[in-house]
Amino acid sequence: MNSDHLSLNIKRYDLSDDKSLKASSAADELILKSYTELNSIDKLLAIYNDRFGYLRCHLNHLNPTSIFTNKSQLNSIESNCKSNRLVFNNCSDPLTSLENKIDLAVLRMPKSLALFELYLQHISKNSTPRVQVIVGYMTKYFSPKMIEIAEKYFSTVEQSRAVKKARVATLSGKRMLEKAEMIDFLAYNNRTYRQYWGVFSAKHIDYATQYFLKHIKTTPKDLHILDLASGNGVIANELLKILPNSTFHLIDDSFLAVESAKLNVAGENVHHYFENNLSTFTDHAFDLIVSNPPFHFEHEINIQIPIQLFKECYRCLKPGGNLQMVANNHLNYSSQLKKIFPTVETVVQNESFVVIRCQK
Ligand SMILES: C[S@@+](CC[C@H](N)C(=O)[O-])C[C@H]1O[C@@H](n2cnc3c(N)ncnc32)[C@H](O)[C@@H]1O
Repeated sequence: MNSDHLSLNIKRYDLSDDKSLKASSAADELILKSYTELNSIDKLLAIYNDRFGYLRCHLNHLNPTSIFTNKSQLNSIESNCKSNRLVFNNCSDPLTSLENKIDLAVLRMPKSLALFELYLQHISKNSTPRVQVIVGYMTKYFSPKMIEIAEKYFSTVEQSRAVKKARVATLSGKRMLEKAEMIDFLAYNNRTYRQYWGVFSAKHIDYATQYFLKHIKTTPKDLHILDLASGNGVIANELLKILPNSTFHLIDDSFLAVESAKLNVAGENVHHYFENNLSTFTDHAFDLIVSNPPFHFEHEINIQIPIQLFKECYRCLKPGGNLQMVANNHLNYSSQLKKIFPTVETVVQNESFVVIRCQK
């Protein structure tokens, strides 16, 4: 590592009062240390799953390519580069081929093993035969399945000793594999939904979403509809069957979710957005906003992010318009929503989920 970079100041760019949440972990530090020990200054490098840009900022002098999956992540990496006076240029999503083949990848282990495998597919397709991959993870999140997946793609997988409760696995000996489609198929309501590996709820349509879909109330006057945090697009798609002449806007922070929704919901009256906030939309743009909002972010729970989104929903709804959502009971959103909306009602509730309707 370049000694000029030791004093970098890397910030989290999400909303949280929880001071225990950090922009990097011992796993990131160990990745950097392992990278330095490889003495690979002349190798073409790609960085995967670098949530706030800690790895990018520390390795920026090597002109790496950052592979991003989330808009919030891309914004954070850009902001951290800018505030540390670093030029941020090369980046790519994980479905696009890289211009040049890489010989080294550093990867912060994501929570989703399916996303890990999607990253390994990308590395496999975009690297030289001698590529090495350094995967960093906190030991408390280790699963033997990680090694099993890594061994599908690489013949040698070596785990380091633990340092500050983190380890790295170094992968080498790339195997030649057939191309995989990287898509899961989910049957629901006489239809098969498709979604890329790593997108929310891979085995079945989420049970909270299924409950919500039974209780959403629409009227023919709902002409402009937003599906906030749309995932694979199932909510918008089911409503499109009832309101075929309405205009649907689907927004998600995950690139792979947006690309999945494009596979499932299409038409002249359907618009997709890869965004993590509602700043694209004008005041009073929507009659109805529907959502199964996010509260898990990797291994963290953070309800300040959905609450900020609800405030933006209020701005974007027409007077008389409404926000309908499903949530896990324990999140207790109603008390927060009452601070934003004049009318908040519980539509229905069971032992796990609650459907809430807020009117502007
Ligand atoms: C609980 S899932 C719901 C997905 C889909 N609507 C469904 O019901 O299956 C929440 C979604 O929120 C997305 N998300 C997370 N943060 C977001 C943000 N700031 N803005 C928009 N979407 C976000 C995640 O990528 C995820 O797809």
